[in-house]
Amino acid sequence: MDYTTVLNEIHTEIKAIPKSGEIANYIPELAKVDPEKFGIHLITKEGENFGVGDSEEKFSIQSISKVFTVLLAFHIQGSEIWNRVGKEPSGNPFNSLVQLEYERGIPRNPFINSGALVICDMLFDGYASPLTETLLFLRDLTNNPTINTNPKVARSERKTGYRNLSLLHLMKSFGNIHNDVKEVFDMYNQLCSIEMSCADLAEAFLIFTTEGKKAIKEKYNFTDSNIKRLNAVMQTCGFYDEAGEFSFKVGLPGKSGVGGGIAAIHPNYYSVAVWSPPLNPKGNSYLGMKALELLTTKTALSIF
Ligand code: DON
Repeated sequence: MDYTTVLNEIHTEIKAIPKSGEIANYIPELAKVDPEKFGIHLITKEGENFGVGDSEEKFSIQSISKVFTVLLAFHIQGSEIWNRVGKEPSGNPFNSLVQLEYERGIPRNPFINSGALVICDMLFDGYASPLTETLLFLRDLTNNPTINTNPKVARSERKTGYRNLSLLHLMKSFGNIHNDVKEVFDMYNQLCSIEMSCADLAEAFLIFTTEGKKAIKEKYNFTDSNIKRLNAVMQTCGFYDEAGEFSFKVGLPGKSGVGGGIAAIHPNYYSVAVWSPPLNPKGNSYLGMKALELLTTKTALSIF
């Protein structure tokens, strides 16, 4: 497969698409990002790297962080995590409160905000310093010791995170948050503010491929079965109420964030990450989805 040609073609075609979508302005610090940024980076299972555009520039990974914290929760608690969080698509926006009330504080899945907050709570049960552990894990996964949070973005999230605080209080009332609400809230905001490039994300997502990151899988006791199941949850829940559309158009397990990033994998061939800040109405990168749709169409390599 000539990935250099494929990515260059995608870049050219994406540049020709009329502008659409809006930057996530509900977090003031994210609204400052240049909407013209675009990068895509792919790593094959053989370890070959292909990047175009702003693929080496760091951006706010936001909800993509949710897949890394699930891995760590899995490391601590194994399949017991499913007692406190489900694995069904929610069909609702990522920050919705409605379902959580009538499902008695058990979030539908770990990738909506409520689910990710419960996962953060689990990390406090297992680690004295869960943020440090997450950063160490990410630096290990990417071979990049510079991976860190952005304190300005974390502060901006904290100031505007009323819905996340509501979700936490509601779940605490049902007994599904064990630790201090403020501590879990703070940790969640820091996680969302972590900055990585498309190249970093593609490297980290190799863990979700069949052959990738064997040493780290062994170190953290991740079995092939664990990875297969997390891929299934990414496929069905990684794009909130647009998971069906992403499966339909792209056909890869993946995860998006409101910073405009999307990371995805083909378990047997490659990992890929794309970044374009303007979002569609569901909160997923408008051009990011288009770029990945072009990738699986041009390569004929999706999981379907
Ligand atoms: O909780 C929030 O609102 C954000 N900091 C993270 C949301 C996010 O990235 C959802 N993704 N598409």
